[in-house]
Amino acid sequence: MKVIVGVSGGIAAYKAAELVRALQQQALDVHVTMTEAAQQFVQPLTFAALTGHRVLTSLWQDADHPSPDASIEHIAEAQSCDALVIAPATADLLARMAHGLANDFLTTLYLATPAPVLVAPAMNVQMWEHPATQANIATLVARGVQMIPPDSGALACGMVGSGRLADVETIARAVVATLHRRQDMAQETVLITAGGTREPLDPVRYVGNRSSGKMGYALAEAARQRGARVRLVSAPTQLQPPAGCEITPVLTAEQMRAAVLEHLPQATLLIKAAAVADFRPRMAAEQKIKREGPITLEMEPTGDILAEAVQRRKPGTLVIGFAAETNNPLEHGRGKLARKGADAIIVNDVAHAGIGFESDRNAVTFLTESRAIDLPEMSKRELADRILDEVLALRRNKTVLSEAGAAPASHGSADRW
Ligand code: CTP
Repeated sequence: MKVIVGVSGGIAAYKAAELVRALQQQALDVHVTMTEAAQQFVQPLTFAALTGHRVLTSLWQDADHPSPDASIEHIAEAQSCDALVIAPATADLLARMAHGLANDFLTTLYLATPAPVLVAPAMNVQMWEHPATQANIATLVARGVQMIPPDSGALACGMVGSGRLADVETIARAVVATLHRRQDMAQETVLITAGGTREPLDPVRYVGNRSSGKMGYALAEAARQRGARVRLVSAPTQLQPPAGCEITPVLTAEQMRAAVLEHLPQATLLIKAAAVADFRPRMAAEQKIKREGPITLEMEPTGDILAEAVQRRKPGTLVIGFAAETNNPLEHGRGKLARKGADAIIVNDVAHAGIGFESDRNAVTFLTESRAIDLPEMSKRELADRILDEVLALRRNKTVLSEAGAAPASHGSADRW
């Protein structure tokens, strides 16, 4: 497999040579591209000698000897690599990536590649902590870039703090884990629900909840990037739909139920990340309700989509639910696992500050009949991959059990939407 190491212009550029070595020890074909600033710190010759490949340094390198292919080299590289890892990534490079600039080979490659992208930032602690840098990081992570955070310690500038390039072994391990995940869901057809449903009271008001949809969208994006066919049944959110997913927009719990049941027959995996209204107004007024004294709302329960999907799924379809809890999360999660009959419940303690609703970060427990796996606080995008790793492990366990004579399981149906 081919990995491109992108090197930008910081003092840690010399450590990229060790990274190249560590990746080669994993039997990876390593190529290198350097920004102009990086070449002030390390000679391209170092990387050419280590990799045995020409180092990509400029969009214009063939200007003196134009060849018909020269202008599309960055596209060819972008298409042919299995991962792009940028180490070190400077504040300037992160800013250019976040804003979509394409003014050198590395940034152009980043925009053009469908491969997973990892960045390992390294810089002075104040540059790292600056709101501009943190905002750029948040933008990139939200777009699916995998961040390998810098370590804390003594920095080249003489200061002490966060900003030192992560350990080379840590970066290499992250690259290998990412490569393993590539296309490991190519056999799956995934149905994901996301967002908070809205139950109308009248033409201008509704009963809703605080779900932002971020966890469900992150799961959809991660599954898509791992090769799955993905349908996202989405209640209203402020989010951009993830690339390559098929979207079914819905408003109410009943519309979500209809969409889930319509697409369930094709699905090999259902993940119910949506916050579904448990009650809806028995009647929605046809005209705007006027402020003419107190009113009493009569509410009726909605149907439990997750429990119904468990009943109606075909053999082999995994069904995973969420449980957003404010007290005794594990106990409530276990209750829901048993009551709804799901294969796993992802328990979310939403009373915990800084995670859960509206946040970009989350921490959960992946609960099955036999195990409770704690996934500690991380970005929702990273967590999405960790959750999918656990779902695939569950799939493997069930397949082993069914091959040993237990319940039948089949997945990877060719009958896709
Ligand atoms: N869920 C569903 N249909 C509903 C309510 C919930 O499919 N009408 C799903 C959610 O998408 C989630 C899981 O069930 O995956 C748990 O949702 P939650 O609101 O935590 O559980 P409830 O069953 O509503 O239980 P309670 O509100 O009593 O905690």
